[in-house]
Amino acid sequence: MIKKAVFPIAGLGTRFLPATKASAKEMLPVVDKPLIQYAVEEAYAAGIRQMIFVTGRTKRSVEDHFDTAYELETELEAAGKKELLSIARSIAPADMSCVYVRQPRALGLGHAVLCAADLVGNEAFAVLLADDLMVGEPPVMAQMVKQFAHWRASVLAVQDVPREHTKRYGIVSGQQIETDVVDVTGIIEKPAPEVAPTTLAVAGRYILTPGIFAELQSLPRGVGGEIQLTDGIANLLRREKVFAYRYAGTRYDCGSKLGFLQATVDLGENHSEVGAEFKAWLDAR
Ligand code: G1P
Repeated sequence: MIKKAVFPIAGLGTRFLPATKASAKEMLPVVDKPLIQYAVEEAYAAGIRQMIFVTGRTKRSVEDHFDTAYELETELEAAGKKELLSIARSIAPADMSCVYVRQPRALGLGHAVLCAADLVGNEAFAVLLADDLMVGEPPVMAQMVKQFAHWRASVLAVQDVPREHTKRYGIVSGQQIETDVVDVTGIIEKPAPEVAPTTLAVAGRYILTPGIFAELQSLPRGVGGEIQLTDGIANLLRREKVFAYRYAGTRYDCGSKLGFLQATVDLGENHSEVGAEFKAWLDAR
């Protein structure tokens, strides 16, 4: 249904300095997996097989992560460490392809998505922001693909947030047409709490029709001097239907230190290898 996913990863990750001075923020591990791998696995679980990374300087480690680690695999094989070998190999399944395109300047999320236009072509595609670690069953992108199959229009993942947080998100308004679906009539990037039309916030998961590219191409710079994906979607709304979907699951804002710590504790507690011991330690403190 949806074959391609775009991962905008050119951002500098300044909120995580000094960790991100010379390293990609997407490679920060929650327990034992880098953030970007959670997002790629979520896309894969939704049936997506072509991963398009919109990358920048200092992001080489992401490319290496999804490549074959020849020396590592040879050593693990020679040492008979089968379990570790299968972990190393499972990162990039044989039927998954990864392509990389550079975003030469940090002109915003809308601009990053536009950098993938030629690779995406004329089909609907997913966008996943790796900062938002989503835990859901079924995984959140799989839920969204199901919504797309039903509505045949762009779908935005949304959640309710406290009013004082509206300035961190794209905020949607519209008519609720099902318990978990809103027919979107407006979207605005990071409004102040006093002017936010609702408290329904876009999480970092989108399914977009290719019509978004024409909108992004003609956009002036928006909030923060950046070309905003939200503004592109606002213009798309004049021509096409867009739906907001209240996903079932938990979002961890791993672009913030607090969210990152919360993800680490929750996923640590549920980890197959260390979970029980970690939970016992937490409880005993
Ligand atoms: C971006 C989008 C915003 C969205 C958010 C979700 O903002 O611009 O509309 O709500 O991701 O995480 P950022 O967090 O990159 O500032």
